[in-house]
Amino acid sequence: MQIPQDLIDTAKLKLKSVQSEAEFFQLRAQFLGKKAYVISAFATLKSLDPLAKVAAAKELNILKGSLNKIFEDALVNLQSEDDFTVLDTTLPADPYLVGSIHPITKVSQRVMDYFLPLNYQVFPGDEIETDYYNFEALNFPENHPARQMHDTFYLNSNAQSQHLLRTHTSNSQIHSMLREDLPLYMLSPGRVYRCDSDTTHLPMFTQIEGLVVDQDVTFGDLKGVIINFLEYFFEEKPEIRFRPSYFPFTEPSAEVDIKFGNNGWLEVLGCGMVHPNVLKGCNIDTKTYRGFAFGMGIERLAMLYYGVEDIRDFYSSNLDFLNQFSS
Ligand code: PHE
Repeated sequence: MQIPQDLIDTAKLKLKSVQSEAEFFQLRAQFLGKKAYVISAFATLKSLDPLAKVAAAKELNILKGSLNKIFEDALVNLQSEDDFTVLDTTLPADPYLVGSIHPITKVSQRVMDYFLPLNYQVFPGDEIETDYYNFEALNFPENHPARQMHDTFYLNSNAQSQHLLRTHTSNSQIHSMLREDLPLYMLSPGRVYRCDSDTTHLPMFTQIEGLVVDQDVTFGDLKGVIINFLEYFFEEKPEIRFRPSYFPFTEPSAEVDIKFGNNGWLEVLGCGMVHPNVLKGCNIDTKTYRGFAFGMGIERLAMLYYGVEDIRDFYSSNLDFLNQFSS
């Protein structure tokens, strides 16, 4: 029986021009499929005499083994090459996605842009806080009813302290007064948490706290800073309302609302003169120093600035919504 010896060279040559896996398997079938020579030749062996049969079978098996090996190696090479698929220029191009700054980050930066040139220093605060800095040192005694307004997420406590997710950035007031020299002009941006969710409330939101401790600061100074800031922020004179309010850590206290579409007013910040108990707790001489503080809700400012009606849109990860702020 005559076994064609050029099969291996032919297979190698043809494999060189294979461009895709489909082509590869077609070629493999030609050389190793049911109808291929090395397979069908086995059927013809039975017509040979026993000695010739053994010799031919041995040769055929060696040939089949070599072909198998060549195709196995070629497949490994093919799959490791990135470019074996032919470039199809009729397919639509991959979308070219460019990220952009989140609207809440943009609004935070806009707020900072106003205060930083006035020499307010940025003070970072912690989101995981103890009851002491979030409440106690801010003049919320234990069981004080104002604690209930905060819908706090409590964390595991240990013997020394009750941990929680801070409900406001006012914890930075205490840390900064304890750590920094006076006079103090401080700004503290960050995330805060309350168990609350509807069109104007989120369980996680962003605040920027401001604190000034200096000699002779008055409520008039506070009002001036807030009005000036809001006029800068909105690039026009928005309708502003200072509404008397209550916070345990400020006295007097106010909340500031801004006219919001036809629906009335939207509260954007709380503020007041720092309560003497808070100053004293931070070893500040209340005969010489006074302070004012404010805490603004960045998502609320962003709703007004961009005309967004549902606060939850900011965190729904909807690209159609977010792309509106990409420029
Ligand atoms: N921490 C208050 C709140 O989250 C806001 C505030 C800050 C009020 C500073 C007065 C002074 O509602």
